[in-house]
Amino acid sequence: TARATEALQRLVVDVPDFPEPGIVFKDISPLLADHDGFVAVIEALASHGRDGAGAPVVDKVIGMEARGFILAAPVALSLRCGFVPVRKAGKLPRETHAVSYALEYGEATLELHRDAIEPGERVLLVDDVLATGGTVRATAELVERCGGVPVGVAVLMELGFLDGRSLVGDLPVTSLMTV
Ligand code: PRP
Ligand code: MG
Repeated sequence: TARATEALQRLVVDVPDFPEPGIVFKDISPLLADHDGFVAVIEALASHGRDGAGAPVVDKVIGMEARGFILAAPVALSLRCGFVPVRKAGKLPRETHAVSYALEYGEATLELHRDAIEPGERVLLVDDVLATGGTVRATAELVERCGGVPVGVAVLMELGFLDGRSLVGDLPVTSLMTV
């Protein structure tokens, strides 16, 4: 993980005042464009779906639209398990569960196909950033609605000052970097 930490520090670019004044956007695209850096962070995220002997302990990896997709799909391949998308409202074509949560202004809704997770399946959640925790909390609730078991959350970065962990509750969260 030293390589992953180094890659994050070097290749995630702060963009002030995007998308709004006062917000510092964390642009991960230089990291994704760097093969060695991308491999390092994917392996560091995937390690949270393995036991001490290196064997996978999850049945599915979920990525949350949109940036979570980019990270969760290669993590799923590394763990030799399936990838499942959680999407923003109205994008999934079949029967879904839906969970809404509060944003700073307004509300967001995330959806998961009802048959995407089987009862009892162990699920790792992967995203780029933990901010308020609303996205992770809603996703964990979607997994539970399917009867699945969220076993952990792996993110590149957490914004420590927003304390997303308290909203997420008991579900173990691992971040490669706190900013
Ligand atoms: C961003 C980020 C996380 C989420 C974290 O997604 O990628 O998914 O916010 O915020 P939270 O912890 O407060 O929920 P966003 O929906 O803004 O954009 P994206 O579609 O580019 O992933
Ligand atoms: Mg996102």
